Amino acid sequence: MTTEDVPVGFDAEGMWDSVADAWDARGDWHADVTRELTTTMVRALELRKTDTVVELACGPTADIATAVAQRPGFTGVIRAGDLSARMIEAAERRARRDGLPVSFEQLDVTRLPFPDGSIDKIAARWIYMLLADPIEGLREADRVLRPDGRLVFAVFAAAAENPFFMLPGSVLAERGLFRPPSPGQPSMFALADVDGTGQLVRDAGFTTCSVRDVPLSYRLADPDDLWSWVRDFAGPISVAVRSQDERTRADVRAEIERRAERFRDGAGYALPGLARVVAASR
Ligand SMILES: C[S@@+](CC[C@H](N)C(=O)[O-])C[C@H]1O[C@@H](n2cnc3c(N)ncnc32)[C@H](O)[C@@H]1O
Repeated sequence: MTTEDVPVGFDAEGMWDSVADAWDARGDWHADVTRELTTTMVRALELRKTDTVVELACGPTADIATAVAQRPGFTGVIRAGDLSARMIEAAERRARRDGLPVSFEQLDVTRLPFPDGSIDKIAARWIYMLLADPIEGLREADRVLRPDGRLVFAVFAAAAENPFFMLPGSVLAERGLFRPPSPGQPSMFALADVDGTGQLVRDAGFTTCSVRDVPLSYRLADPDDLWSWVRDFAGPISVAVRSQDERTRADVRAEIERRAERFRDGAGYALPGLARVVAASR
């Protein structure tokens, strides 16, 4: 498989469906990796106890909706949605298992199924940078929020701050197996620039915007765990890895393990990342 065959966009329903089981299987692990980020986002929502809250692109764990549902004294409405039907199935299963009052629906963040001015708070983690035109999603959030509504979303800081992704990504890219997106294309790092993203938020109709960085540590138990994460969980990287023959995969795996040595942590690894939380008011 060549670079040209690898899907570049990160927003295809099929791609997300294809990693939904792996994301679900790693749900508790991922909730742990993102715990501080979840807490920071929930705090930034400035919740009132009767708010209508929506988590967009909630993935299989809907961590923010879950945290809101578990908040003592919260009596508002909690909804969550995602483009991938399989992500929604997984998230719904978890919420039902834990008896959480969250309702789920399949949705596209660029065409929200909510009337104008009907939502108090929106949380969206790691989605707007993956859209072909992020302002479409931001404008749609602005449309459905009430006049005093608030949008809190997370993006990633620049690639250099996110070895957890760039380490396997660069090994594949150097072999022509993965094409890192060019500037201006949707990608994990497309909204890393604080000033540019602040401007986009204001252009979408919001009046205030604050940004806070949250460090992440992707802990992987051992080399097998590192490889299973690369092969099954890492979105477009996993798609690229899975389409290679055995020999290429073995070569890629060996090189990833070699480079991961600098992030060794006991028997496993702690791969660093940096998330950026943007809070916007209307
Ligand atoms: C990087 S994952 C983040 C998942 C979750 N927010 C989290 O932080 O764990 C991106 C999620 O966005 C969803 N997604 C992609 N494009 C979307 C769109 N246009 N509308 C809604 N969800 C979308 C994917 O299915 C996937 O669950």
